Amino acid sequence: MAAPAELRARLERAGQGHLLRFWPELGPAQRSALLAALGPGLAEHCALAAAARGRERAPPRLDGRMEPLPGALLGSARRSGPAALQRWEAEGFHQISQNKVAVLLLAGGQGTRLGVSYPKGMYDVGLPSGKTLYQLQAERIRKVEQLAGQRYHRRCIIPWYIMTSEFTLGPTEEFFAEHNYFNLEKSNVIMFEQRMLPAVTFDGKAILEEKGKIAMAPDGNGGLYRALMDNKILDDMKERGIQYVHVYCVDNILVKMADPVFIGFCVSKGADCGAKVVEKAYPTEPVGVVCLVDGLYQVVEYSEISPETAQQRSPDGRLLYSTGNICNHFFTVDFLQTVAQKFEPQLKHHVAIKKVPYIDEEGNLVKPLKPNGIKLEKFVFDVFQFSKNFVAFEVEREEEFSPLKNADTAEKDTPTTARQSLLAQHYRWARSAGATFVDENGCRIPEKFSLSGTEDPPAVCEISPLVSYFGEGLEVYMKNREFCSPFILNENKAEMLRNY
Ligand code: UD1
Repeated sequence: MAAPAELRARLERAGQGHLLRFWPELGPAQRSALLAALGPGLAEHCALAAAARGRERAPPRLDGRMEPLPGALLGSARRSGPAALQRWEAEGFHQISQNKVAVLLLAGGQGTRLGVSYPKGMYDVGLPSGKTLYQLQAERIRKVEQLAGQRYHRRCIIPWYIMTSEFTLGPTEEFFAEHNYFNLEKSNVIMFEQRMLPAVTFDGKAILEEKGKIAMAPDGNGGLYRALMDNKILDDMKERGIQYVHVYCVDNILVKMADPVFIGFCVSKGADCGAKVVEKAYPTEPVGVVCLVDGLYQVVEYSEISPETAQQRSPDGRLLYSTGNICNHFFTVDFLQTVAQKFEPQLKHHVAIKKVPYIDEEGNLVKPLKPNGIKLEKFVFDVFQFSKNFVAFEVEREEEFSPLKNADTAEKDTPTTARQSLLAQHYRWARSAGATFVDENGCRIPEKFSLSGTEDPPAVCEISPLVSYFGEGLEVYMKNREFCSPFILNENKAEMLRNY
């Protein structure tokens, strides 16, 4: 059967005629799948992608238009006294105890830099317990629910929304089912799918990755806002009485799920939108900077800022643009609703240039050595500009940020550095709770008081999030006790130590 003439003519006119090159060889199922992908929006998308790439080849420097966040909008975990931190924490726990807080995981990315074919959340960085990122996150949710429940003597639920993509939905669902949802209630783990967009060549042609299949990629973590509408997630949140959402990305091993301090800070400031930040480690560190551009809140990526501006310092010696984005955001449900219904079409498309495998004219699969394709993505933080009351909250990097981005061949943000950060943190917690460690021969391991975060702690001590969420409550198990490294403090061990 020939391709419908009208369709062929439409595609030819739009410069996309090549997509029907292998039509005669396709079976009925492939044909109907291809037809479904050849909707009228395709040509428009291809033109948009090529034009966007043209613009981004010379990205505008934003330097002259940037301003640091006003101090009044920037809270800080480090520079605030214990009373303020306790007040924010109490506010956060209060909201959690009212079942008004949800967490939302952005997990639709392909994890290409890490080089694994499965979702990043399933990655095991080599902790003694063998726990994956998903398991650590699930256990942190359970622990915060429990802590809020203890304070307020009621059962607390923090629903876990997980945005996936065509690539990650199936394996993520299977993984959670295999692990019995890590003992969370299945009905409180809500997975949904973001949209996909075609990959396009530099001259604006959609790419075939199979004879009957266009190469597609998720529409960026800013695809969240459309996905919330597509999947009626905001309705679900409202039915559950959720008012505040902590949105975070999958790869940060130290992520504090539903962090009561951050939630409490944002709520007590009356914020509709907030971002957790860490102080940039050095001027050229490749993290986005949360700041103002033309008076609007924005994250400026490191490629958009000149070295001179990146190096500017304020009178206290800190970098002027020091607020590094760690992809941990606070939103009210009302704000999400306004953005999703009103502003989403205004979010700009960012261009990612990638190597996209394609079918050549003879029908052979080619894996390009050089980037050949454009993928368009929206970014989750591009909605900050619509906030009426934006705040940022600075936290300690060594306590809250160690992302898993690259394979172990890289120097930074690898499985090794993620594991080291977590174990260094747990070692610090154990030490301040009064623990000491011996090696397998019973010899005392000398203590180390300052750890860089990218080195192995002298003793290995892994603490289950089910025992302690943020180092709290450990004295009862650890004070004046000696443990043999490597040591895992899990729930059973904690129970034994408590009764000991
Ligand atoms: C992100 C931030 C960057 C920040 C850095 C800190 C964005 C756009 N950039 O950069 O400012 O400094 O984290 O670690 O947020 N994802 C989806 N769907 C997609 C694409 C990505 O859900 O279509 C998810 C990923 O699964 C991941 C998160 O978004 O959980 C971040 O994506 P990634 O591509 O890793 O962002 P970075 O470039 O590392």
